Amino acid sequence: MQTYQIVTIDGDGIGAEVNPSAIAVLGEACGERLRFLAADGGAAHYVKTGAVLPADTFAACRESHAILHGAAGLPGVTYPDGTEVGNDLHLQLRFKLDLYANVRPIRLYAGVTSPLTGWGAGSIDYVIVRENTEGLYASRGAGVNLRGEVVTDTLVMTRKGVERVARFAFNLARRRPGARRDGQRRVTVCDKANILRSYAFFRAVCNEVAADFPDVEIDHAYADAITVHLLKKPDFYDVIVAENMFGDIISDLGAGTVGGLGIAASAEVGDTHGLFQGAHGSAPDIAGQNLASPVATILSGALMLRWLGERHGDATMEAAARRVETAVESVLARGEHVPRDLGGAATCTEMTSAICRALA
Ligand code: IPM
Ligand code: MN
Repeated sequence: MQTYQIVTIDGDGIGAEVNPSAIAVLGEACGERLRFLAADGGAAHYVKTGAVLPADTFAACRESHAILHGAAGLPGVTYPDGTEVGNDLHLQLRFKLDLYANVRPIRLYAGVTSPLTGWGAGSIDYVIVRENTEGLYASRGAGVNLRGEVVTDTLVMTRKGVERVARFAFNLARRRPGARRDGQRRVTVCDKANILRSYAFFRAVCNEVAADFPDVEIDHAYADAITVHLLKKPDFYDVIVAENMFGDIISDLGAGTVGGLGIAASAEVGDTHGLFQGAHGSAPDIAGQNLASPVATILSGALMLRWLGERHGDATMEAAARRVETAVESVLARGEHVPRDLGGAATCTEMTSAICRALA
């Protein structure tokens, strides 16, 4: 049976707690099929060594089957230009490994109460596909700062970049059962095509790609309007594709409607590599106290298993992904162990052992 080399980067803050938790759950689900290799990186590592992403860590990531990351970033650890060092760990990995699709499932699990009234388990179930290698982030570290008087960051769209993330979104819609509201396979293009040419270009390229997917409905929503729609008609959405910065913003809003960032998983994938991490940050205020919820990182681990299964035609990995997700949902549904971010008092280790028991 094929085994998979998984590079794990705990990073900073709660990363050192939630990452080992996910490794324990994935080990319970997959046994010897996964070989974990711990690697350094993050803001604390930068303070010690000057490197947020050491060369040997990047080399291990490049040779790996997948990367599992905790979280990165520490307050006050910034570059001279004022931007945060810790974020550079996964931004460098995104750009160097060309992880162009940042996949953010937004799903209301049993046992989790949405702040939106009247929505029960499974009634909200869509995926945000955020372009992850260009848009406004193309200017990270490259903006213009003239004498501290005029500062600009340019939003960059390329035909290749938009086309491949749109195609990814449409193919994802083909693999899903359709929107909860009407069962329609749908890709919603989120942009501000009414105002900026770059977003009009984004929309035009997505429309071109749509022509290859007559079985998938195409829908359009401006980035401001969709923030209202995600609150008032979340069941209408199936797959949403958005430029980098807009995707960053609406994915947190979406996560907020299904329990928050403590339950928000992410898969950052390209054609050859994948990085999996919770969508939350390093939460230094609760780090080292066993208070963090490992759920987002564990669910990101399930996304990793599913991605490995699809890439390698390995049905056992896809089955293991389903078992991990079912175990998480059964623990949340039972309500005996509820993490703090969802209103309970369960510790990181208590959530981990409860999910491992549910798996066994
Ligand atoms: C995210 C985060 C990152 C981003 C930061 C930590 C670099 O907000 O993954 O959503 O801005 O993409
Ligand atoms: Mn974000």
